[in-house]
Amino acid sequence: MSTARIHPSILSADFANLAGELRRIHTADAVHVDVMDNHFVPNLTLGKPVVEALQKASELPLDVHLMIEDVDRWAPEYAQVGVDSVTFHVEASSAPIRLARELRAAGAKSSMALRPATPIEPYLDMLGELDMLLLMTVEPGFGGQKFLDLVLPKIRRARAAIGGSGKPIALQVDGGISRDTILRAAEAGADVFVAGSAVYAAPEPSVEIDVLRNLALGGHHSA
Ligand code: DX5
Ligand code: ZN
Repeated sequence: MSTARIHPSILSADFANLAGELRRIHTADAVHVDVMDNHFVPNLTLGKPVVEALQKASELPLDVHLMIEDVDRWAPEYAQVGVDSVTFHVEASSAPIRLARELRAAGAKSSMALRPATPIEPYLDMLGELDMLLLMTVEPGFGGQKFLDLVLPKIRRARAAIGGSGKPIALQVDGGISRDTILRAAEAGADVFVAGSAVYAAPEPSVEIDVLRNLALGGHHSA
C-alpha cells in the first residue's frame, strides 16, 4: 500500500484523563472512538456527550465507530457533532443507503462496518455511498482480542471491488492490529488501521504509531 493511516482507539486509554491521552497520540492520523451500547455488543463505553467533549479537545480528526442498535436514528446525531467520519454497522441498520447519505448530508464522511462473519458481496453495489469501509478483524466489543486471519480474503475482495469502483474509498481494519499483524492486513489491501492496545500499551504511544505506520508500508522498525 502506498498510504497507511493509523487511528489509535481510545478504548484502551485512561478514561479519567482523555485530554492527556490524546496528547500521547499526536502522531496519529485520526482518533478512533468506540461507542458501545451494551446491546449491539456486550459492552458499554461512552456516548454523545463524551464525543462532543473529545471533538472540542482534539486537534486530530475524530473517527467515530458506532457499535449500537437503532443506528439509523442515532448516527446522524453523531455526524452533527462535527466529527470527521461516522461508522455504522450494517448489521444494525435497516436502511444503510439512506443512512450513508444522511451522514454525508450532515457533513461527515460516511463509513460502514461489517462484523467478521458478514460477507461483503451483498453491499458491493452501494460502495459509492461510502467514504470508508470498515472490516472488523475481531468480533466487536472489546479491545485486546486476537486478529482473525480469516478476514484476510474479505479484505482482498473488498480492495479489488474498491479498485474497480474507481472511487477513493478508504479500507479500514479494526481489532488485533499490532506489529505482528499490520503487514498482513496491509498486504491484503487495508489502508487505515485502528490499534488500541498495541498503541496504549506501548511505553511511547506516539512512537509506536510511527512504527506501525512504517510496518504497514512494508518497512521495518528499529525499536
Ligand atoms: C473493538 C473496537 C476496537 C478496539 C480495538 O470492538 O472496535 O476499536 O478498540 O482494540 P485492539 O486494537 O486492542 O484490538
Ligand atoms: Zn472500533
